[in-house]
Amino acid sequence: MTDDDGRAGASPAAPSTRATSDFPQASRPGAASDADQPVLAAPLPAGYRLEAYTIDCEISGGGFGRVYKARDAEGTTVAIKEYLPLGVVERMEGGAVRPLSDRDRGVFRYGMRCFFEEGRALANLRHPNVVRVTNFFRANDTAYMVMHYEHGKTLQQLIQHEAGPMHEGFVMAAFIQLLNGLREVHTRKLLHLDIKPANIYIRKDRSPVLMDFGAARQALVQGPPAIAPMYTPGYAAPEFYKGRDRLGPWTDIYSIGASLVCCLSRRPPPPADQRLKEDTMVPVAQAYAGTYAQPFLELIDTMLAVNYLERPQSVFALQKRLVELARESEKARPGLLSAIKQTLGLE
Ligand SMILES: Nc1ncnc2c1ncn2[C@@H]1O[C@H](COP(=O)(O)OP(=O)(O)O)[C@@H](O)[C@H]1O
Ligand SMILES: [Mg+2]
Repeated sequence: MTDDDGRAGASPAAPSTRATSDFPQASRPGAASDADQPVLAAPLPAGYRLEAYTIDCEISGGGFGRVYKARDAEGTTVAIKEYLPLGVVERMEGGAVRPLSDRDRGVFRYGMRCFFEEGRALANLRHPNVVRVTNFFRANDTAYMVMHYEHGKTLQQLIQHEAGPMHEGFVMAAFIQLLNGLREVHTRKLLHLDIKPANIYIRKDRSPVLMDFGAARQALVQGPPAIAPMYTPGYAAPEFYKGRDRLGPWTDIYSIGASLVCCLSRRPPPPADQRLKEDTMVPVAQAYAGTYAQPFLELIDTMLAVNYLERPQSVFALQKRLVELARESEKARPGLLSAIKQTLGLE
């Protein structure tokens, strides 16, 4: 199955129609009328006191939980992610959650361990282009991750607002910065594994933030595959489908390439499992010739190579090539490099 974000993979367990009286109703993301779909437990209501935080409203609900806008004791706005796996728990009076069955209890605990690992990994990572985790705690028989609240929109939302390809200078600058953040992630022996425009946030100052390390937990924790690894068709590299022992930095680089294709065409390339059977994908350099500089389009094609060995092998190598391209494009299109430098804060 897939969730709001088009993600596939996670979703064990039985549906629930039970709801508590004082709390908002549970919901079925993306399938409001289908009674057979698993239910996402009800959100915490506005005004709810969660340790030192007060919930303002829900921002989003997906396969692994809900994200709220909230305020801390000083009144500063924060984002709080609640571990609330779809179809596995229900909300009780007062806010605590409870697994729907004994089988769900095992799934819930395993996922919680993963959620903790995600929080721990992110809590140690401070980078302007990676979402900043400031607190992590247990309450309501589940777990919460507190983050800096970012003002902006997801790249996915920005793409949806454009009629055609996104501006080349913006795309280059945003991705060069985003790769700074991803490099830091890889340096810590973590892979993101779910990079896509919906998980790339663009602040109002146009700088990007990589968020949602929900899939990264799969790389961290060895354990029973109670919750199938998350991946998003179109953005997930071929090694997700065949040869999972080959996941590496090049796997995230494939998803970066697929996200760039989405900036060009508003949709990702064909799913990699299809490409593995019969690769009918027209090279980006051919399909989108004339939109972005030709060497940039060719670089996107190398990121999307089905064979992982043919992709740039490290974020550093990719970044170096992108900066070279930005310099070359500058000769053809004066102003591009200075736009990029400005976005990078170099000017
Ligand atoms: N730190 C944050 N600041 C502002 N909005 C956020 C923050 N974290 C998440 N969000 C919002 O919640 C949405 C879902 O968050 P995400 O981490 O992608 O979780 P998931 O996709 O697993 O539900 C994001 O697309 C964004 O709109
Ligand atoms: Mg997400």
